[in-house]
Amino acid sequence: MDRIRIVGGQQLRGTIPISGAKNAALPLLIASLLTEDRLTLKNVPNLADVNLLVRILRNHGVDLAVDGKRSSPPSHLGDTIHLTARDIVDTTAPYEMVSRMRASFWVLGPLIARMGQAKVSLPGGCAIGTRPVDLHLMGLKELGADIDIDSGYVVAKAPKGLRGAHIVFPKVSVGATHNVLLAAALAKGETVIENAAREPEIGDVAVCLTKMGAKVEGIGTSVLRIQGRDRLEGAIHTVLPDRIETGTFAMAVAATGGDVMLEGAHYHDLKTALDVLAETGASVEATATGVRVSRNGGGIEPISVETQPFPGFPTDLQAQLMALLTRASGTSVIRETIFENRFMHVQELARLGADIQLHGDTATIKGVKTLKGAPVMATDLRASVSLVIAGLAGEGETVINRVYHLDRGFEQLERKLGACGAEIERLSSG
Ligand code: EPU
Repeated sequence: MDRIRIVGGQQLRGTIPISGAKNAALPLLIASLLTEDRLTLKNVPNLADVNLLVRILRNHGVDLAVDGKRSSPPSHLGDTIHLTARDIVDTTAPYEMVSRMRASFWVLGPLIARMGQAKVSLPGGCAIGTRPVDLHLMGLKELGADIDIDSGYVVAKAPKGLRGAHIVFPKVSVGATHNVLLAAALAKGETVIENAAREPEIGDVAVCLTKMGAKVEGIGTSVLRIQGRDRLEGAIHTVLPDRIETGTFAMAVAATGGDVMLEGAHYHDLKTALDVLAETGASVEATATGVRVSRNGGGIEPISVETQPFPGFPTDLQAQLMALLTRASGTSVIRETIFENRFMHVQELARLGADIQLHGDTATIKGVKTLKGAPVMATDLRASVSLVIAGLAGEGETVINRVYHLDRGFEQLERKLGACGAEIERLSSG
């Protein structure tokens, strides 16, 4: 297994190109199941999760072609992928695949909508929490699917197709919103989703579905109104920039000090988190080409934050913020309200000398003067990158084990940070 070695203490200075958003690319790739025509996606990040989903889609019968090689050094424009699901040859998504990536469960809605049946493995729990799928199933049942659970699989049937419905989610869920939105685009009549997730990635999918012929109103609000079509067409769509990657590098700059241009980033998709960053003492500026973040000289101010669905502070940046706050000039408090077990980074940050107390869903972080490098273990994607930030801001050598978690969601991480002066390298297992 590869490891990442960091020697901390360097400020970050330069430009980092922001990749296409993982959490938009995944449902957009899945949208290819909805049409027999060609869906072309531009700016797709080259990530382990994307590659795994591509294998799952191929298994269903999606043909796929990737345009020629990308420019080097990396630009913020990712791969162009053409997907054609002319014939869906298999409506089963097996356990071996779905258990490795939760978002692959989102093939369920599109498969039922297009084929009238699907058998998709339950995704199971994961490191950050139990993560049930009751809301996905509730929404799809309201659209007319008959759903049974059999031997760990969701077995769904809708022989006469899906029909529009009025769905009120009791809780905000990104995945359930995606699943129902994708299915509703190919359902008969109008679907209204109340209490829909408002994440920009949902909006990106809704825009793509509109290009494919569905009509989606209320994009960016918590009420989505979808006019389904009997048949959707092909489209060309560009994946929006990754706001979590943007926020991660922004936190890294705030932690190490320095001045970095995050090229291609969308300020408004990340405003709450960037405002929080500014409260800690960093300078944040929206420019014509992205977001510029700097911290020169001043200290890190302690703050109190709780994670919330969009437009609140994202749970996907909680670990990175915590890494930054370990060196604040006082005591900070972070409350995690989305996932019950998303504090796996706490014990690893403690290895570097962080002083963090956990009580239920709340972490109290007492700032320390310095962190000191140590060997640590990556536990999930965002936790891993928080260790990278802590390592960069600490003194001496940090070696991060199990970096395959990082490869799931960060494209060319070492290269992007290295280009801004970080001392970071991948130690290959050979
Ligand atoms: N929930 C239910 N029932 C459901 C679905 C969700 O109770 O049927 C609960 C979850 O257990 C959780 C909360 O609702 O407590 C929110 O979960 P949500 O469904 O919104 O999360 P998700 O769709 O599984 C996506 C992202 C996550 C991100 C969350 C929250 C993708 C591929 N995944 O997950 O991203 O943390 O939304 O914003 O978009 C990551 O990229 O590292 C990552 C984990």
